[in-house]
Amino acid sequence: MDKKINDLKERKHTLFTSTISGEVDEEVVILGKKLTEVAEKQSFAAIVGSLWLGRELKSLKTENFIDLVLKLLVDHGPYQSGAVNTIISARAGKDLVSSLVSGLLTIGPRFGGAINASAQVFYTAVSDQKEPAALIEEFAHQKRYIPGIGHKKYRIDMPDPRVKMLQASVKGVGGEYLKYAQQVEKITSAKKPNLILNVDGTIAAILLDLLTSEEQFDNLAIQQLIEAEFFNAFFVLSRSVGFIAHYLDQKRLNEGLFRLNPDEVFSAEIQNSNLQIHKSSSKFK
Ligand code: ACO
Ligand code: LMR
Repeated sequence: MDKKINDLKERKHTLFTSTISGEVDEEVVILGKKLTEVAEKQSFAAIVGSLWLGRELKSLKTENFIDLVLKLLVDHGPYQSGAVNTIISARAGKDLVSSLVSGLLTIGPRFGGAINASAQVFYTAVSDQKEPAALIEEFAHQKRYIPGIGHKKYRIDMPDPRVKMLQASVKGVGGEYLKYAQQVEKITSAKKPNLILNVDGTIAAILLDLLTSEEQFDNLAIQQLIEAEFFNAFFVLSRSVGFIAHYLDQKRLNEGLFRLNPDEVFSAEIQNSNLQIHKSSSKFK
């Protein structure tokens, strides 16, 4: 039989499709280039951005911003939700991956994982040409928090230095999304000083600016990125470094099992039983 026909007959259905990487002659190839060559020529931020977008970054401004985001989100001390979970798991004797994952599981709508929802809100509001005041009113009416607004520690009179640095890094990029987010902040922070544009909201707005103006993504592509949770990926990647650091720190310190003291928890049960004891010992029955 003709070799070509034979080859066609023996063709198999593939089980997966990948558009980002593969192996050619024992070499890993990412986005059409040998990984070893990419490693020689490109920064980590460029590799992250390109792999996540599924094509090479067009702009050095995007690369530099990703680099800064990855550096600034790396840790925020042992106080924040994720680090606390990782530390508790490490002290309970858990392994690296389990402790890391227990930290990662706290990333969500209130902590670190508001970048994506924030991108959705700012993107839709700008597309619909919604006034910032109308957006705020809409959220208040629905009794919902605006993602990307508010912080437990920072306030308008005690700004987050990361936010300042991120905004300064993109001076001159155009920035209709950042401008919009800042207009929202102006109104919310006048109502309550802690309702600032936080680090999640800032990253969301600037990424939207870069993706539309520098990377030339159209509406459909942006919407796909939002639906796939692309924006939160930056917090997940960067903060993993911090969680691993907290895990290793606890192991190095050989810290023992953590347990709360009863006086650190308000317990309705204890309150009730104290009341009972108090009642039964009282001479006024
Ligand atoms: N939009 C509207 N109102 C808000 C918002 C918001 N995003 N955040 C807080 N408020 C209001 C509350 O309704 C509350 O009002 P009240 O005093 O009349 O009841 C007041 O501000 C204080 O709210 P708290 O819940 O006490 O604020 P807290 O300091 O606990 O919350 C938090 C901080 C969790 C960040 C909150 O602002 C929030 O959920 N923001 C949206 C999610 C977000 O962006 N998270 C990322 C934070 S940055 C990071 O994690 C890296
Ligand atoms: C962080 O980066 O972890 C914070 O902004 C959230 C926090 O509670 O400090």
